[in-house]
Amino acid sequence: MNDSMKEHWDEIYEALDADELTWYEEIPESSIKLLSKCHINKDESILDVGAGASTFIDYLINQGFTNIIATDISEIALSKIKERLGNEKASLVRWIVDDITQPVHIQNLKDIAVWHDRAVLHFLLEENQQQMYLSTLKKVVKKGGYVIIAAFSLKGAKKCSGLSVKNYDQNMLAEFLGKDFSLLDYFDYTHYMPSREPRPYVYALFQRNQ
Ligand SMILES: C[S@@+](CC[C@H](N)C(=O)[O-])C[C@H]1O[C@@H](n2cnc3c(N)ncnc32)[C@H](O)[C@@H]1O
Repeated sequence: MNDSMKEHWDEIYEALDADELTWYEEIPESSIKLLSKCHINKDESILDVGAGASTFIDYLINQGFTNIIATDISEIALSKIKERLGNEKASLVRWIVDDITQPVHIQNLKDIAVWHDRAVLHFLLEENQQQMYLSTLKKVVKKGGYVIIAAFSLKGAKKCSGLSVKNYDQNMLAEFLGKDFSLLDYFDYTHYMPSREPRPYVYALFQRNQ
């Protein structure tokens, strides 16, 4: 676990309510749109990497998905979702505090049907961090499984919450994942922060080849 990163994110989640975060979405419509293109059953596993305090988890529960795994480096972030959901709904989710660049628990998962990452990969600036992310993804996502990645686009911000980011387009994401993954769909999407300033993202959906 990268302790300084954990502290960084814990401090942010401690200081702000979920709906004050610049990346907060009341309805995660672009993630929902790409998830709707994944042909999966409600009992197949969906892993949200760096879930933070995301309402995507609420959406999945409300849609009746029964195998939801939420992970984040920040325990405080995940506790915000748990609080919002209440005990009954929170007990339907598997919660994992882990660092995707030094995973201890995530890499023991298997047969993940959907890997969902909104605004996490772009924080990984070092080659070894990106490679650990990729090798973990390849270890846990099943053949025929899906990968949804949303990152700041090439015309997007260069920093978020005080950290530098790497900007992507769909081709860079395809190159990063490599030839085992096919690009099924992608689009640009502008998220508006609570301040109403725009934050351009690229969203991409991949499928792991059989
Ligand atoms: C910009 S937020 C996005 C949160 C969420 N995906 C969403 O869309 O609302 C980035 C998230 O990535 C988490 N994160 C950053 N580095 C991480 C790492 N190395 N391993 C796991 N999570 C990480 C942060 O704690 C934070 O919750």
